[in-house]
Amino acid sequence: MRDTLVILDYGSQTTQLIARRIRESQVYCELFPWNTPAERVMALRPRGFVLSGGPASVYEPGAPTLPAYVLESGRPVLGICYGMQLLAHALGGRVGRAPQREYGPARVELIHPLSFLIPLQAQPQVWMSHGDRVEELPPGFIVLARSLNSPVAAMGDPDRHLYGVQFHPEVVHTPAGREILRRFATEVCGCAPTWTPAAFIEEAIASIREQVGDGRVLCALSGGVDSAVTATLVHRAIGDQLTCVFVNTGLMRRGEPEQVVRTFRDRLGMPLVAVDATEEFLAALEGVTDPEEKRRIVGEKFIRVFEREAEKLGRVDFLAQGTLYPDVIESAAPDRPGARRIKTHHNVGGLPERMRLRLIEPLRYLFKDEARAVGEALGLPPEVVWRQPFPGPGLAVRVVGAVTWERLERLRAADAILLEELDRAGLLRTTQQAFAVLLPVRSVGVMGDCRTYEEVIALRVVTTEDFMTADWARLDPDLLARISNRIVNEVAGVNRVVYDITSKPPATIEWE
Ligand code: XMP
Repeated sequence: MRDTLVILDYGSQTTQLIARRIRESQVYCELFPWNTPAERVMALRPRGFVLSGGPASVYEPGAPTLPAYVLESGRPVLGICYGMQLLAHALGGRVGRAPQREYGPARVELIHPLSFLIPLQAQPQVWMSHGDRVEELPPGFIVLARSLNSPVAAMGDPDRHLYGVQFHPEVVHTPAGREILRRFATEVCGCAPTWTPAAFIEEAIASIREQVGDGRVLCALSGGVDSAVTATLVHRAIGDQLTCVFVNTGLMRRGEPEQVVRTFRDRLGMPLVAVDATEEFLAALEGVTDPEEKRRIVGEKFIRVFEREAEKLGRVDFLAQGTLYPDVIESAAPDRPGARRIKTHHNVGGLPERMRLRLIEPLRYLFKDEARAVGEALGLPPEVVWRQPFPGPGLAVRVVGAVTWERLERLRAADAILLEELDRAGLLRTTQQAFAVLLPVRSVGVMGDCRTYEEVIALRVVTTEDFMTADWARLDPDLLARISNRIVNEVAGVNRVVYDITSKPPATIEWE
């Protein structure tokens, strides 16, 4: 059994980051809602626990508590923010409301330099976000660090390996945080850094073989990295017992349908059924301009086409899906904030429920960056591994207004220029999403002494960590000028280019 840490989630916005940082140290960890039954958590035989932050106050009626099995296990514990307050509260210390809430950057002074906290000495800046604080230490504990507003910014009982930090080591604004979590995992908990792509691939292949036996597996390829890595892993495991289906919706970017066939059929030798359903999708979208309606139509149509193709294949026992860990975590905790529907997200490649196939989800414990690392280790080409996210409804939500073949082609041409220029400037990996949007607005222009009255292209280029919030990329004006010039000169039907300078929130990344 591999060395594993368990993170108990108390509802902080940054809990997933704790897991990502620990995984970056090549230590495996899993995240559970704090009230998960003990047997499920302890089945992993965790070598230590991290208690996340959270919005509650330990004295509030009904506030989340520290389950008894955590301390009974005798394993090391690191409480972060609310997690530290819980530890203090549970062990006989006292937590109280701080006279001044502390949000944002703070400096800490290390009082008792334990090895795992030593990185704080060199980089004392930390990120705080709390209203409560530990006022009185539990018996056996000592103060390890303090800040202006937190006399106990870190505390510990080294004999019992119990620690708490009031600040958030998981966020980038705590520069020493990554190293603190790494040392906690490896030095305090004794986990070996064995969580590598190669180790994952070996285990995943063995477990897919065991699960599938001599069954037949179907996988929907979308062109995105998740389904590509899933299909490649399953193919490595069971070879031609896998069939991939790729539905060309006619709503992809320029060259993408060809690239899927080239990579998976020609280069990797996978059995691949490629269906061109462009006309069906365009017919279903004809005259539709409402964004949600477009999303619904594309989602439904996709399932219908996929089911039809799957039926032609005869016997199929399993469906392989590229579900990632964040989806698993979110469905385990459905009442987390953010439940209000802004857009209906459809994942092309999503499960047609009626097909009642058993699922194979080899990536269900991976974060996106880990899936990419696995893709690289599997030898997938960089343009697949580093492909930026693309919405399930495809260009239907980037052609604002009516979706016609002519407008799609216009958008594809402009989008290809944008990507080519960003790539040339080395910006395709440093901006997380970049695309063109075709607006249903015509404006007057003048070209070669003649009046033009044509459509507008908006460029959307954003930087983001998690796609929940995003900022517009501050691109070099000369680069923007070159892109704009090329689009107006090379794309028929477009005479004006604008750059979207709205962050998310208040805007969303996509326009529809
Ligand atoms: P928004 O526009 O909501 O997008 O800021 C956030 C991220 O999600 C992508 N997106 C989708 N992905 N199916 C998907 O799989 C969808 O229906 C969908 N809609 C938006 C968007 O491209 C961005 O990365």
